[in-house]
Amino acid sequence: MKTRLLCLLALLLLWTAMVRASAGVQGSQAGNRSALPSLAGCQKNCGNLSFDYPFGIGAGCFRLPQRDFELICNNTHGASQQPRLFLHDGITEVVNDIRPGDTSGIDVSFSQSVSVRPEVDAYNISWNPGRSLSIDGVLLNFTGCDFNMYVLQHDINKMVGQCSSTCPDEDITDTMARQDCNGTGCCTAVGYSEFGVGLDIKFVRHKIGKRKFQAQSNRSSIWDTINVVTSHQAYISWAIAVDEPGTDYACLSNHSSGRFDSSNVTYVCYCDRGYRGNPYITNGCSRDKGYHPIQRKTNCSRWCGEISVPFPFGLEDGCSARMSFQLNCTNSSLSTLQFLDGFDDTEYSSNYVQYINISGGLVNVKYNIYEAESLSVHVFQDPGLYVASGGVVLQQWAVANLTCHEAQQNKSGYACVSMNSICLSVNSEQEYIGYRCKCSAGFDGNPYIADDCNDVDECKTPGTCYGICHNTEGGHYCTECPSDTVYDTTIKMCTSAKKQNLVLGIAIGISVGFGILLLISIIILFVRRCKKGIKKKLRRKHFRQNQGLLLEQLVSSDENASDNTKIFSLSELEKATNNFDPTRIVGRGGHGMVYKGILSDQRVVAIKKYKVIEQVEISQFINEVAVLSQVNHRNIVKLFGCCLETEVPLLVYDFIPNGSLFGILHATTTSGLVLSWDNCLKIAAEAAGALYYLHSAASVSIFHRDVKSTNILLDGNYTAKVSDFGASRLVPIDQTHVITNIQGTFGYLDPEYYHTGMLNEKSDVYSFGVVLVELLLRKKPIFTSDSGLTQNLSNYFLWEMREKPLAEIVATQVLEEATNEEINDVANLAQTCLQLRGEEGPTMKEVEMKLQYVRSKRLRSCQVVVRNEDMQPLLSGQSQDTLPMLTTPSGIADSVNIASQRNQNCYSLEQELMASATLPR
Ligand SMILES: *[C@@H]1O[C@H](CO)[C@@H](O)[C@H](O)[C@H]1NC(C)=O
Ligand SMILES: *[C@@H]1O[C@H](CO)[C@@H](O)[C@H](O)[C@H]1NC(C)=O
Ligand SMILES: *[C@@H]1O[C@H](CO)[C@@H](O)[C@H](O)[C@H]1NC(C)=O
Ligand SMILES: *[C@@H]1O[C@H](CO)[C@@H](O)[C@H](O)[C@H]1NC(C)=O
Ligand SMILES: *[C@@H]1O[C@H](CO)[C@@H](O)[C@H](O)[C@H]1NC(C)=O
Ligand SMILES: *[C@@H]1O[C@H](CO)[C@@H](O)[C@H](O)[C@H]1NC(C)=O
Ligand SMILES: *[C@@H]1O[C@H](CO)[C@@H](O)[C@H](O)[C@H]1NC(C)=O
Repeated sequence: MKTRLLCLLALLLLWTAMVRASAGVQGSQAGNRSALPSLAGCQKNCGNLSFDYPFGIGAGCFRLPQRDFELICNNTHGASQQPRLFLHDGITEVVNDIRPGDTSGIDVSFSQSVSVRPEVDAYNISWNPGRSLSIDGVLLNFTGCDFNMYVLQHDINKMVGQCSSTCPDEDITDTMARQDCNGTGCCTAVGYSEFGVGLDIKFVRHKIGKRKFQAQSNRSSIWDTINVVTSHQAYISWAIAVDEPGTDYACLSNHSSGRFDSSNVTYVCYCDRGYRGNPYITNGCSRDKGYHPIQRKTNCSRWCGEISVPFPFGLEDGCSARMSFQLNCTNSSLSTLQFLDGFDDTEYSSNYVQYINISGGLVNVKYNIYEAESLSVHVFQDPGLYVASGGVVLQQWAVANLTCHEAQQNKSGYACVSMNSICLSVNSEQEYIGYRCKCSAGFDGNPYIADDCNDVDECKTPGTCYGICHNTEGGHYCTECPSDTVYDTTIKMCTSAKKQNLVLGIAIGISVGFGILLLISIIILFVRRCKKGIKKKLRRKHFRQNQGLLLEQLVSSDENASDNTKIFSLSELEKATNNFDPTRIVGRGGHGMVYKGILSDQRVVAIKKYKVIEQVEISQFINEVAVLSQVNHRNIVKLFGCCLETEVPLLVYDFIPNGSLFGILHATTTSGLVLSWDNCLKIAAEAAGALYYLHSAASVSIFHRDVKSTNILLDGNYTAKVSDFGASRLVPIDQTHVITNIQGTFGYLDPEYYHTGMLNEKSDVYSFGVVLVELLLRKKPIFTSDSGLTQNLSNYFLWEMREKPLAEIVATQVLEEATNEEINDVANLAQTCLQLRGEEGPTMKEVEMKLQYVRSKRLRSCQVVVRNEDMQPLLSGQSQDTLPMLTTPSGIADSVNIASQRNQNCYSLEQELMASATLPR
């Protein structure tokens, strides 16, 4: 579970980083590029950490008006220790350089403790680094005994993480607890906040803990201190607030621009493409100056095992011409050579350099992850100088993102230092990458090293001339054979041979030549074919291995925890399904079969068996596991685990007995199952709630991408369970859309998404609108009308709604059971969902609220009063512990009350609450 959490967090961070690096909304220049007060004399370092404006230490050195960008360098930790750098709050420690031009993120660590007193059961730590900062994603380790920890966003009291720690063994020490941090004396929870919000961390003592605490004294410090530290990497982002009164536009440099967030609340500055540096200071952005033609170090090693590493590449600091060309010879006996790639997490990407070609400007890189097709080397802090070439791992490279003209202006930085070298441009399909060097024609060598381009003696190659060859600097010329000799093509020299010989020689020469040519082409063809086959096999093998690794991280194999996703053995599943007996098949999806199975512990499960092991399918499978292991919601089908032993992956779910909404709505025979209007409303509201949860409740948004009535399953009580996450995408919460391949099902596909490929939450809203229309009209999404026309239900509905009164459109059963007002409400809601321009349509939250409203009106006769006591067990997950925090007016109770107000109706209120209080895991 923890590995899973960590892994997903890492993925999320990686994603955020990549998203950050990609282009966003370009803001127009919002103000006056006034001059900055001189920053001369401002401190730029604290210990071994460096930083730059807008951050700074001391008056005039950081950006006003808030002090968010002020840093504190604390030297008073003792002479032996490095000074430590803190943000303005004095408690958030900066642990890495702050590079305003490269990223708007800071690596930080946070650590606080409070001492525990017997008479106090609730404690509070707040972490609010400042108005211009947001806590992006952190794991908080908390040590203490018999406490629940809740991580809430400050002010809005939105709970984002929670965990619980108990100490069954009274002799436990702090160090012991920290070791595993598994709930025994220590536990881990997620935290993140929006801009300027910060986190409140609350601790509430368990009831049992209280007894124990009073009974004992004089134990290890873990009993009387609560400690919170950030685990591993913690990341804070900063940005400039737009509405800040009296501030100037922050992007001061020429060739810089601001990029606004989706709601125009903040922006960050970037140097324009092709420029690098600090956009927040005057003239901070400049053209690429990263290339240093002089090798600073002598005695540089130039081999990694059998791979040659010529300048401008190098294996050590000072041996290469720039950061992008520094390689790491991780194992010289195996010739393992790697780039210091921007992906510093080797689990996600490892590249292996096979060879470097100077004259062709090529480098051959093999990647160890399955998306190799689209990867190119990118070294953090350097411009992208490598061109990924589609399906091939051969990459072109450039030495600097300058035009040849620009490069030649600055002689001291010009890379083509050898005499007889020329400058060439390197382009990718999309853009200009930079320049590289090459020895001029007739010369050979390394153009990046002074005087290394040497003349090629063409005359050494036999057959250059039909006569006598004369080499010159950079070329050659030919003269005829001396008078009494002729050129003999077999020995490629001038000889005094007889004419007959010559004719014969030519004849033999030509036929032998042709023969050899034929042979060679056959061999080449054969070798190519062989190579292709081997490559394919190897790739497949690697591919599977890697997937397996990734999966094992995602899925904890911890069998103790019953609610954890589990890895099942094949024999277990074979037994459960009677060797995948065809009679056990309960469904056939686009991706595979679904079997009903009974596990040894009598649990009834649905086992999804993927059809073929195509790359796409595998990623869908991984995707489904990743998504489902992240969510825990009453109306989302529960994933018990998966099986990795088979060639085709298997997924094990909770079995949902009543089939899909589609099956019931469009049953051809009357199976006895009839959906009442009450159940329709219930299913719609629940499914909407589940989608809303996916869109917003987890730390990443999850877009389902394949919402349809087939994917809404129903259990015995007509409780909706949203399923099939094969197409879903995790999207960072501040990201409004991603561009993807079109996926989905015809009839449900949002036309806007279909046309633009821009996936956003409204695509799910659209598809859900189609489901609502299905419920109202009881027609299939693509149906044949009375006149024999095949029609798209959403178009039909929108059209008919304009033409006719609703009563003539909706199904007779609906007309009989529902009131006019309800039909109106639901139809209007469906209509807004189907709006062509998604941004005008409602969010899933609005849809859910509207449906809940319709339901609660219908059920008005049986309102219930929400009492706090009803909620506590649901929130704590502990049996009957009281949570003092909940009874206070501020605190979690607030958010629960808000949730309950809109959910007030008479069926299963508790479960509704549980659903709205369920946290991302
Ligand atoms: C920008 O600021 C400078 C100095 O503060 C001022 O002279 C100039 O008029 C301003 N320009 C604009 C367009 O506001
Ligand atoms: C520096 O750290 C010491 C002890 O860690 C603390 O007492 C002091 O207040 C800090 N100084 C500043 C300026 O924060
Ligand atoms: C957690 O770790 C401790 C050791 O620190 C161990 O004794 C305990 O059994 C572990 N608990 C679980 C649930 O794994
Ligand atoms: C926090 O806990 C995790 C295990 O959940 C552990 O790997 C990590 O080292 C801990 N971090 C700190 C700073 O104690
Ligand atoms: C954000 O501001 C830009 C111009 O500064 C404007 O074009 C855009 O519509 C705004 N977006 C929102 C969501 O307010
Ligand atoms: C290189 O600079 C040019 C501007 O001359 C820019 O258009 C291009 O996007 C830059 N390429 C990269 C890879 O940064
Ligand atoms: C080179 O690789 C080794 C082994 O993976 C690693 O320990 C070392 O930190 C790497 N060096 C650099 C500069 O990244």
